[in-house]
Amino acid sequence: MNVIVFASRKGGTGKSTLAAHLASYCFKASGSCLLIDADPQGSLTLWHHMRGSDALILKDGTVGLNDTIEQARRDGVEWVFIDTPPLMSDEISEAISHATLIVIPTRPAIFDLNAVKETIDVATLANRPYAVVLNGVPPRRLGTESPMAAFARRSFAALGAPVWSGQITHRTNLAMSLNDGGTIDDGGMEQKLAAEEIAGLWRAIENSVDAIHGVYAGAAMHQKAAA
Ligand SMILES: Nc1ncnc2c1ncn2[C@@H]1O[C@H](COP(=O)(O)OP(=O)(O)OP(=O)(O)O)[C@@H](O)[C@H]1O
Ligand SMILES: [Mg+2]
Repeated sequence: MNVIVFASRKGGTGKSTLAAHLASYCFKASGSCLLIDADPQGSLTLWHHMRGSDALILKDGTVGLNDTIEQARRDGVEWVFIDTPPLMSDEISEAISHATLIVIPTRPAIFDLNAVKETIDVATLANRPYAVVLNGVPPRRLGTESPMAAFARRSFAALGAPVWSGQITHRTNLAMSLNDGGTIDDGGMEQKLAAEEIAGLWRAIENSVDAIHGVYAGAAMHQKAAA
């Protein structure tokens, strides 16, 4: 079982947005996926409620998170996605202790980048693999990334932090598509670019998880299993 934890000490970086889109994408691809909302704000719980009857199961992770994860393991679930609150809490420590990979979304502005260091420290202290994902980034122009994204990459390179080579661009339809419990992959052609970025991030997560398990030797966001 692989546990992907979305964590950032800063609020509003896109944890819940990416968790919803990726869990939906993974569910369509593998069918064996559980979403856990460990944030008392309940963003994903609201989204899941709007979906109505849905084969993608969501469980409340604000209490008894360890038990929920262990039950998923016994049930043979392949992928577990855990959305966490922005402040340090028992839920985050619990979630992180189970993480195969921690995804740390960040926006590319200086205040956001500075806050990522705290989240990296939490991951490092727990000795869990993590990867930073640039979210809410200005679009690439003619294949070249924005100065903001380039600046963010330089900052993380200086820290030696693993960062996804792609980006999730700031796109209204990434937020809009969640309004009625949907996701980007439910949309038409105009959502294609956003859907491609979500698919690209999912491939990167799969590669990193395979690298962590020692079954993939190509380029990945994170290649090293936690000791
Ligand atoms: N790539 C994006 N493009 C456009 N809007 C986005 C993008 N990512 C996130 N948003 C919007 O930014 C806001 C914050 O996103 P989200 O709620 O996913 O962040 P969060 O990290 O879960 O926040 P919190 O820390 O409060 O739980 C939301 O309004 C969401 O719709
Ligand atoms: Mg959230």
